[in-house]
Amino acid sequence: MKHPPGILGSSPLRRDGLEKVTGAARYLDDLPAEGTWVGATVRSRHPHARIVSLRFDRTKAPADAVFVHAGDIDGVNGLQILDDRWPILASKEVHYVGEAVALVAAPTAEDALRAAAAVEVEYEQRPAVLDWEEAARNEPLYELALDEGRCEAILEAAANGDDGLILVEGEYFTGAQEHLYLETQAMLAEWVDGRLAVTGSMQCPYYVKNALQHVFSLGEDAVQVVGRYMGGAFGGKEDYPSLLAAHAALLARAARRPVRIVYDRHEDIVATTKRHPSHTRIRSAVKKDGTLVAARVDFDLDGGAYLGLSPVVLSRGILHATGPYRVPNVRIRGRVLRTDTPPSGAFRGFGAPQSQFAWERHMDRIGRRLGIDPLTLRRRNVLHPGDRLPTGQLMDASCGAAAALEEAARRGDFLRRWKKAEEDRRRDEPLGRGNRPVATGVGLSLAFHGAGFTGLGEHRMRSPVTVRLTAEGRLEILCAATEMGQGAVTVLPMLAADAAGLRIDDVLIHEPDTDVVPDSGPTVASRTTMVVGATAARAAHELVQRIVQWKEEQMGEAALRVEDSRLLGPGGEIGDFRELAREYLAAGQPDAVTVHNEPPPWQRFDEDSYHGSAYPTYSYQAQVIEVEVDTDTLQVRPTRAVAAAEVGKVLHEVQCRGQVEGGLLQAVGWALWEEMKRKDGQLLNDRMTTYIVPTFLDAPEMEVHLIEEPWEGPPHGAKGVGELPMDGPASAVCAAIENAVGIALDSIPATPERLLDHHIEAAQGGRR
Ligand code: MOS
Repeated sequence: MKHPPGILGSSPLRRDGLEKVTGAARYLDDLPAEGTWVGATVRSRHPHARIVSLRFDRTKAPADAVFVHAGDIDGVNGLQILDDRWPILASKEVHYVGEAVALVAAPTAEDALRAAAAVEVEYEQRPAVLDWEEAARNEPLYELALDEGRCEAILEAAANGDDGLILVEGEYFTGAQEHLYLETQAMLAEWVDGRLAVTGSMQCPYYVKNALQHVFSLGEDAVQVVGRYMGGAFGGKEDYPSLLAAHAALLARAARRPVRIVYDRHEDIVATTKRHPSHTRIRSAVKKDGTLVAARVDFDLDGGAYLGLSPVVLSRGILHATGPYRVPNVRIRGRVLRTDTPPSGAFRGFGAPQSQFAWERHMDRIGRRLGIDPLTLRRRNVLHPGDRLPTGQLMDASCGAAAALEEAARRGDFLRRWKKAEEDRRRDEPLGRGNRPVATGVGLSLAFHGAGFTGLGEHRMRSPVTVRLTAEGRLEILCAATEMGQGAVTVLPMLAADAAGLRIDDVLIHEPDTDVVPDSGPTVASRTTMVVGATAARAAHELVQRIVQWKEEQMGEAALRVEDSRLLGPGGEIGDFRELAREYLAAGQPDAVTVHNEPPPWQRFDEDSYHGSAYPTYSYQAQVIEVEVDTDTLQVRPTRAVAAAEVGKVLHEVQCRGQVEGGLLQAVGWALWEEMKRKDGQLLNDRMTTYIVPTFLDAPEMEVHLIEEPWEGPPHGAKGVGELPMDGPASAVCAAIENAVGIALDSIPATPERLLDHHIEAAQGGRR
């Protein structure tokens, strides 16, 4: 079926755009309050303590307020993610500041706060695990390993200076990051005749549904979850909404009416999941010309108090730990360490930004040691088609790593600028001697991102998507994909329309309501366009094909087709699609088709040895980032970012560029400003005034170049792009700072304080 020209690659208006920019879109907090009570949460103020007693003093609370504690949970007091050891409500002990201990609900927000204040909790404080050293002494929550080749023997040889090999070692840190989605976590629950209905801000309605069934011991039919438009998520609404939904449901049951919980910003920052802090040590053996020969990577993540999604985050981190480069001998060890802090969770990139920050900084360290510039060193090692990843996966023709690297370097005029800044800096050394108030530098990085679930996840899911006809003769996609600002409600109909030969406005998409849509999987892992979109396209094609065949039989005429929503025969136009569809429905024909995602059959992955193809394809992004560093204060201002993203195939150009720009800025924020400061387990900057994220004013000028190296799979060779732009920019920022002022920081955020400390330490230690 030929598609009408121009759907793909065109950039139709976002379906949710107008109502969002005009304020007409109704988020959970905008729903009418009538008859709905407000829930509030009583939280731990200690990082680790035993709960000695818990009491609700009704004399101090509004008369009709309800109170819920762990003892009221009759099913399982555990959040079902990978395991269920994260309590819905703490019962004996608390393990982080902000952990939920009890819940209250009342008719108004004011009453709910008064009720929360009437809960008295007596704690006995315990020693808390709050730093890397101590966490590393304890049993890790989770461990993983990947080995390829003879890594240790080669590193040993390099350490002895044998075989012309050089040993380069480094240690790297990244900090926690808060999602700071515009819309805070929000959930509404109601019980009707023993059936639980939940709606709210979430990426994964079926995760929430499964978690609720677990907590309340309910069957599949007894829970309905509906995902609403979200004011952002960035991974932060992958795991946490399940906990909030359980809270709202407990309160709704106790109050015998709908209960809504909407976190205020302070509460959201304190209590919800964050990006995993990371600590990476790398030992590598390289030849004098910069060729990588072996690397040992020890990658630790701070998982916080409970396991949550950490094993999968660790896994993705490990699978991206040596970047898009040829490293023939590799030994990677990963651990999730436990601390008494909020559970770390999903955040755009999901482990890959952390491990690739370390790897890219390490590449710069190797270059510095060997006197090879960053571009030449990367060119020498970058993956090409025919090369293999540490898992043994063979790179096919769609490996666009080198293309992205060259495009960014050329468009960003990297080498010339980098050399010039090196010369300027040398003339100025030691820092400040040349009296330059501002030093300019430029950094380069390259990263990749595996699209879809890791390993055999997509094979196990075989995500179903349904497409059905509406009474008016339009197509409607039924899937669990959620719109978090990434553009799913626009791109999925585009793909279905393209595959079916319809105009875009003849394809609708149903809201993600578990009573109606099949479980097409969570909206995570850069999988929605590539996996759910491709499946929706196949379903749409199949349904329209059936309708056409039926019509052919009716007419006794072969060679009918649908194009641009018109029914065409050998002699030209016969009618329009909506009419045809209504005719087909009136004849009592089946109105829906369900198809399952079919991951490439060649994709094999051994989950014990970590060998095989962890992802069917990868997208690549290189960036050149320029900064200005104030040589007195060491404040850094990113001025320009040129990114080249190899995304397989561009489906919606405006949204694709938007993903790259947004991810870039989020990564620059992580690199320079965003820091979760804790003292004795307490978050010190738990407000938007003190947790600093970049605004438009802080954003560098951005230039995005999209490159297409389609992979063999659908849709049209497009690869996941949502998380890719988060993976590489942070190390480019550090490289640019190094180029400007010679401070080689391997730890982010690169705040003036941290830069100064590092500078003083380097000066005292005499190392450069
Ligand atoms: Mo995402 S970080 O895969 O929700």
